[in-house]
Amino acid sequence: MAAILIGYLLGSISFSMIIGRYFAGIDIRDHGSGNAGATNTLRVLGPKWAATVLLLDLMKGVFAVLIARWIGATDTFVVLTGVAVIAGHNWPLFFNFRGGKGVATTIGVMFSLLPLEATAAAIIGLIVLAFTRYVSLGSMVFATLIPLLIVLAETMFDWEISRAYLVFSVVAAVMTIWRHRANIGRIAKGNESKLGAKRQGQQ
Ligand code: G3P
Repeated sequence: MAAILIGYLLGSISFSMIIGRYFAGIDIRDHGSGNAGATNTLRVLGPKWAATVLLLDLMKGVFAVLIARWIGATDTFVVLTGVAVIAGHNWPLFFNFRGGKGVATTIGVMFSLLPLEATAAAIIGLIVLAFTRYVSLGSMVFATLIPLLIVLAETMFDWEISRAYLVFSVVAAVMTIWRHRANIGRIAKGNESKLGAKRQGQQ
């Protein structure tokens, strides 16, 4: 139970908000896509801050899993801690419950729980990103591939993967899609912002 609470509080530390507020004097949610995440930080503050946010938001996911395991949580409580850290990132206690889309934090949790599946999903997600230049699409592909890869690994290679991890991967995929519903609408209309598009304020 303590791990879940710690996970949620850890997730609530929104690094794009902190960096935006204390290093650039802005609320990142008032700029770009309005999302408190690494992609929007790239858009608004540039690559150096975006990489910092990506790494720190990702580490929240890694640390949440490490803490849960360290206190001896069962698989069920480890994945509940994973859900909690992602939920904290998306609906942060410290920032009026308006946070990000959970992608970096989900990546951190997934790499901690399912490194091979996460690596395969990340490679495919990055290929989708490279071809489309939509970070949102690459993110959704990453998250939705994990449960499919678990099922594939179980059926084709007889791997035994914890049921809790499979359920978690489905929950994480649903959360990711849900948080990207505005992006899905923009992709459908063809006006989703592409990676490499000029930053705000640039000519
Ligand atoms: O990390 C979130 C990303 O998938 C999309 O972000 O700012 O383009 O909505 P954004």
